[in-house]
Amino acid sequence: MIPIKTAEEVEALRRSAALLVRTFRDVEKALRPGATTAELDEIAYQTIIRGGGKPAFKGYNGYPATVCVSIDEQVVHGIPGSRPIREGEIVSLDIGVNLEGFFSDAAKSYVIGEVSQEKRRLIETTRAALTEGIRQCRPANRLSDISHAIQRAAEDAGFSVVRELVGHGIGRDLHEEPQVPNFGAAHRGPRLQAGMVFAIEPMINIGSEKVRILEDGWTVVSEDGAPSAHFEHTVLITENRPEILTAGIDGNSQER
Ligand code: MF3
Ligand code: CO
Repeated sequence: MIPIKTAEEVEALRRSAALLVRTFRDVEKALRPGATTAELDEIAYQTIIRGGGKPAFKGYNGYPATVCVSIDEQVVHGIPGSRPIREGEIVSLDIGVNLEGFFSDAAKSYVIGEVSQEKRRLIETTRAALTEGIRQCRPANRLSDISHAIQRAAEDAGFSVVRELVGHGIGRDLHEEPQVPNFGAAHRGPRLQAGMVFAIEPMINIGSEKVRILEDGWTVVSEDGAPSAHFEHTVLITENRPEILTAGIDGNSQER
């Protein structure tokens, strides 16, 4: 079943997403070599709590933190701790907000200082793949048009799409139906309708698409140890262009 959001729900989701955007801004200010991932987590926690929200990930299936901080070969779900961030690394932040029962979810990969051309290209490709997926978010298209567009953008650039983790519906819960894979044939699945809200989140690897989970039970890493990037937006389908509720985390541009 696909949730259709009322106008009131959409307003509440916009407020949730606005708090999430402020949270990214505050964490970004501290994102430099030497900062520990736990420091970044604490900043996010404070912004969300002061804004009247709750961290959506904390306690979810036992996840212990506000932010997922995933570095280089870590794909997603890295647990914050004492590790300092270093120049040359890719740092991916994934944060979710629950504001008055309405959920928003977003992620972004950053380069720290000087990084290799290949890492830069991976990040730009992953951002572009998300943009391509979002471009498919209009009524008349089907769900897998999003998936297919993301896969094409990633594979045309010579990178691979992680299969084991997917995007999702979002709104009254962090994860709602349907799942939104980042790969697959076009023109399959339900038709998109105004009022649907999706968290679309490509995870793209430089090397193999295969992943495994570390002994901490959470951190997903590329099996071959090659770098990975992750971008995510919470997106509302409308009659016309999609509304990217979390657009503010990546510049303020709604242009595509
Ligand atoms: N953006 C991810 C997701 O929607 C983050 C979930 S982390 C968890 O699945 F801790 F909440 F599981
Ligand atoms: Co998500």
